[in-house]
Amino acid sequence: MGWAIWITGLPGSGKTTLAHGVATALAARGVTVKVLELDEIREVVTPEPTYSDAEREIVYRALAYMAKLLTEAGVPVLIDATGPRRAWRDLARRLIPAFAEVQLLCPLEVCREREEARVPGHAPRDIYARAGRPGATVPGVDIPYEVALHPELVVNTHECGLWTAVQEILYLARRLGRLAAARAARARRRLACE
Ligand SMILES: Nc1ncnc2c1ncn2[C@@H]1O[C@H](COP(=O)(O)OP(=O)(O)OP(=O)(O)O)[C@@H](O)[C@H]1O
Ligand SMILES: [Mg+2]
Repeated sequence: MGWAIWITGLPGSGKTTLAHGVATALAARGVTVKVLELDEIREVVTPEPTYSDAEREIVYRALAYMAKLLTEAGVPVLIDATGPRRAWRDLARRLIPAFAEVQLLCPLEVCREREEARVPGHAPRDIYARAGRPGATVPGVDIPYEVALHPELVVNTHECGLWTAVQEILYLARRLGRLAAARAARARRRLACE
């Protein structure tokens, strides 16, 4: 049984940077995790994304299901996705027994500056530049971004350095790993008794 951590926050808050930092640190300890990035999933599930609520409903449900399958197969998962609606993150929580939410907090203006300064080639580009236009659905600007009510960890990425944030998520991952291992052991014992 694996575990899943959903790193959520506004575009530019630091989800991908932290997910890769944590994955690299875990790899150095011999733990291979799968990072699920919504933009990669979109390339297959909704190759011409509209970023409408209906389109997001489909990709986020697919994302939650993929994370469930991976954790059932024993693969630890880091979900790197904004997930502006709490309901989508709650769906993953319901599906995955060893689940935690990391809420990144960062002022919108800082997120906007970071997103605009990202290296060329980073996709998708110009997220905040689209905000405010007719039909735009940028989370935190055009549509609400629903902050987690009971996240297992909150990281203020404008105050907390990258290294400290990675260490805090690693600590959470270790706790979840123990929880997942205990659940798997209980399941094995139940099977042996049947
Ligand atoms: N403490 C921090 N944690 C994470 N990122 C930080 C931190 N301090 C500065 N940054 C910078 O902020 C930027 C965050 O960009 P990143 O692509 O990780 O955001 P994101 O949340 O994945 O955005 P998107 O939703 O568009 O994919 C990076 O350039 C990163 O170097
Ligand atoms: Mg990202």
